[in-house]
Amino acid sequence: MEDKSLHTSYKYYENFSDLLPEDQELYNQACDASTKSYAPYSNLNVGAAIRFINGRTITGHNHESGAYPSGMCAERVALYNAVNDDELRKTSGVAIAIAARMKDQEEFMEISPCGQCRQVLAEYAYVNGTPLKVILPSNNGAFIVIDDITALLPFIFNSPKRKKG
Ligand code: THU
Repeated sequence: MEDKSLHTSYKYYENFSDLLPEDQELYNQACDASTKSYAPYSNLNVGAAIRFINGRTITGHNHESGAYPSGMCAERVALYNAVNDDELRKTSGVAIAIAARMKDQEEFMEISPCGQCRQVLAEYAYVNGTPLKVILPSNNGAFIVIDDITALLPFIFNSPKRKKG
């Protein structure tokens, strides 16, 4: 038996203004997208924005349902929105920003993608062969930036049928 360990590194920015301008812009788009959220059950309004290699961005927001498991997270709505776009489906996403706030609250809060979204986004990045940077709001106005979504999902389920290209 051998003890092994995993190491995850990320960048920590104390202030929004320390982020790269394009990442600030992406986060702002995620905030805007959260205003379209349909979340009458959780009251958590989430938005996501994905930037592509060609500079285009696309957004999504969470959408809930009275049949609870039928809802969908903002991140996957954004991604599925992108692959429905004839131009974007042929290119690669390079960054995703996520924003969330409780209904009727002014302040955006800390959020991190759920396990299902990590799986889906990581597979998307793997198939495209392009790392997908993740921009997340943390506490007290700080931000966390992870260079590649795959770092957020060690021991990812690796479908035997998964193929690049
Ligand atoms: N949610 C997202 O949209 N993204 C996340 O990363 C975490 C959770 C949504 C799902 C549900 O509509 C609500 O937030 C509460 O879980």
